[in-house]
Amino acid sequence: MTGASTGMCAATARELARRGFHVLAGVRRDSDATPLRADRIEPVILDITDPDHVTALAARVERDPLPLRALVNNAGVPGAGPVEVMPLHEWRRIFEVNLFGHVAVTQALLPALLRGRGRVVNISSLNGRISMAGYGPYAASKFAMEAMSDALRNELAPHGVQVVVVEPGGVKTEMSRVGLAALGRLDDTMTPEQNERYGALMQAIPSHVAAFTRAGVTSTVAAKRIAAAVTDRRPRTRYTIGATAAFLVRASRILPDRMLDRMTTSDLRRHYPTGNRRRLTAAR
Ligand SMILES: NC(=O)c1ccc[n+]([C@@H]2O[C@H](COP(=O)([O-])OP(=O)(O)OC[C@H]3O[C@@H](n4cnc5c(N)ncnc54)[C@H](OP(=O)(O)O)[C@@H]3O)[C@@H](O)[C@H]2O)c1
Repeated sequence: MTGASTGMCAATARELARRGFHVLAGVRRDSDATPLRADRIEPVILDITDPDHVTALAARVERDPLPLRALVNNAGVPGAGPVEVMPLHEWRRIFEVNLFGHVAVTQALLPALLRGRGRVVNISSLNGRISMAGYGPYAASKFAMEAMSDALRNELAPHGVQVVVVEPGGVKTEMSRVGLAALGRLDDTMTPEQNERYGALMQAIPSHVAAFTRAGVTSTVAAKRIAAAVTDRRPRTRYTIGATAAFLVRASRILPDRMLDRMTTSDLRRHYPTGNRRRLTAAR
């Protein structure tokens, strides 16, 4: 699994070890390896955007006499901010982790997964199904992961490898703190015109993220769901995490775009600074 230093993947590593699996837990720093190391949890240094790390992981897996049961592509970075404002190099960095890194790890481990008739579990997001103002770069990377997963599922089904997508709603992890720090830096780069266009939205996002996370489930709850996606004998193609994700993913399948727009906009509007709440409405 990738991105096991914190959050739902650290919890999933412990849950899978408890169920008797030997877990290779990817972390980027030695300091994150030490607290994770335990019976049946073996930390491996893995930055999924570093080709040397990915090659070393594949070599470690090849040396193992046990079959590879599953790859959990979990590592992720947040990416909130208006489409216009997010610099292109940041768009690329977000995709480098949230999409291309996972493609690289999947390609490297596919020979072992095919031999072991294993499973790929891709951790997407509610934002892999619903995009909204202020979340474009992150949602775009997760929509891309969903599309990649659909293709991979159909390509590998005849060869005995299953591909499963997990779509969490809010989960109480480090991600919101990391995301809000990045949003603050982005805010500082806005021109006066951009500030006029997006200032209120930029103020609404932290409050929206905080409320979303506060209403979310714990990493332990998320871990049990991810562990089910890894171990269910006949897995579904997609698992949601949390009631909000279950409801909104279902709604996204049946509601017309304009109605979804109204839902996401009114949800955001509650977090606008007073006096700016009409701005989003006026824009529709
Ligand atoms: N929390 C939520 O509400 C939520 C909702 C929907 C989807 N998700 C998704 O769930 C997954 C797990 O997120 P989380 O909430 O558990 O957040 P988290 O605690 O911030 O965990 C993210 C993990 O990704 C790792 N990572 C970042 N860049 C990496 C890279 N280049 N190579 C390898 N690892 C990297 C981080 O490592 P470092 O510690 O080294 O940075 C960390 O271990 C993500 O894909 C996220 O998009 C989260």
